[in-house]
Amino acid sequence: MSAQFSEKRFESVVCIGAGNIGAGWAAHFMRAGLDVVVYDPVLERKEWLDGYLERAMPALEELGLSPNASLERVKFTTSLQDALRGAKFVQESSPEVLSQKIALFQEITAFAPEDAIIASSSAGFLAKDLRSMAKAPERIIIGHPFNPPYLIPLVEIAGGENATAAAKAAAGFYTSTGCEVVELKREIEGYIGNRIQAAVLKEIFYIYSQGVADLETIDRAIAAGPALRWAVMGPSSVFYLGTQNPSMYEGFVKGLVDEIKGGFVANAEFDPEPLIAAYAQEVQEEIGSGGQSPLLDLRNSGVIALRKALETLVKRHASA
Ligand SMILES: NC(=O)c1ccc[n+]([C@@H]2O[C@H](COP(=O)([O-])OP(=O)(O)OC[C@H]3O[C@@H](n4cnc5c(N)ncnc54)[C@H](O)[C@@H]3O)[C@@H](O)[C@H]2O)c1
Repeated sequence: MSAQFSEKRFESVVCIGAGNIGAGWAAHFMRAGLDVVVYDPVLERKEWLDGYLERAMPALEELGLSPNASLERVKFTTSLQDALRGAKFVQESSPEVLSQKIALFQEITAFAPEDAIIASSSAGFLAKDLRSMAKAPERIIIGHPFNPPYLIPLVEIAGGENATAAAKAAAGFYTSTGCEVVELKREIEGYIGNRIQAAVLKEIFYIYSQGVADLETIDRAIAAGPALRWAVMGPSSVFYLGTQNPSMYEGFVKGLVDEIKGGFVANAEFDPEPLIAAYAQEVQEEIGSGGQSPLLDLRNSGVIALRKALETLVKRHASA
């Protein structure tokens, strides 16, 4: 019999790993007004986490702090056993190394209460692999965020086909903290978002390899064009609006598929590897010439402004 998990909103969460993603989750759950315990085996990560939360605070305040939200409610520990005592929901964000994650899940499931839900932030692994050495494995799912989790609302839940109760409870919990939840019907490496990003990046490499445009120009062509529409609705919704006669939509799609087959995308054999050094150098020297700070500020304020505008618009649309 699969375990029963509480449907209610948990008041506390354990974040495993205090890197970019673990700290981003801690910021998100703190904003939602929860008690957050962060575990990292490296003591120096505490100072880094404190700095991360301090830097994230203006964005968190702009997004809106829950009445009970407080940095005081974020605790750090280097003891996994202490972190997991009485845990209800665990968000694992350790390095993306499969063997290490499998061993860590074995440890986590040995210490955590049996009814604790354990979600991995993994960027592409399958839950069925992460569970392979775990105790009571049907409580382990993928809860994949986008960086940074306090700013980008999407979380992809995968692996639920063998952990339906945990996936359902996790979906309810993430939603209660303000996440936008997407559940995969079955597992696939990379899930949805990262597969789409990988396809786009491959095409960027291809366009770049052909000398069509520099990387800053390609970025602008995406941000000011398709991405602006994608922030409002997905590509299938956008394409549906591309035909004047919706009843002839199949013919419109046939045209798009002909473009794919006719060479609008790099072929399967295209290998971006030889371009890595040139690509990285151009990003560092051109797009990133001012360092990361100005880009981080622009991303944070831009995403917050878009989220707020879209929330207002969706509410107005729903009540119209
Ligand atoms: N960076 C991204 O954009 C992104 C986005 C989505 C998901 N992810 C996934 O999130 C996870 C974490 O990525 P990151 O970018 O935060 O990595 P990171 O390297 O920034 O941080 C990893 C942290 O884990 C700690 N750690 C090492 N061994 C550990 C252990 N045994 N137990 C607990 N903590 C341990 C490290 O000390 C470090 O603080 C990965 O699975 C990654 O694929 C990353």
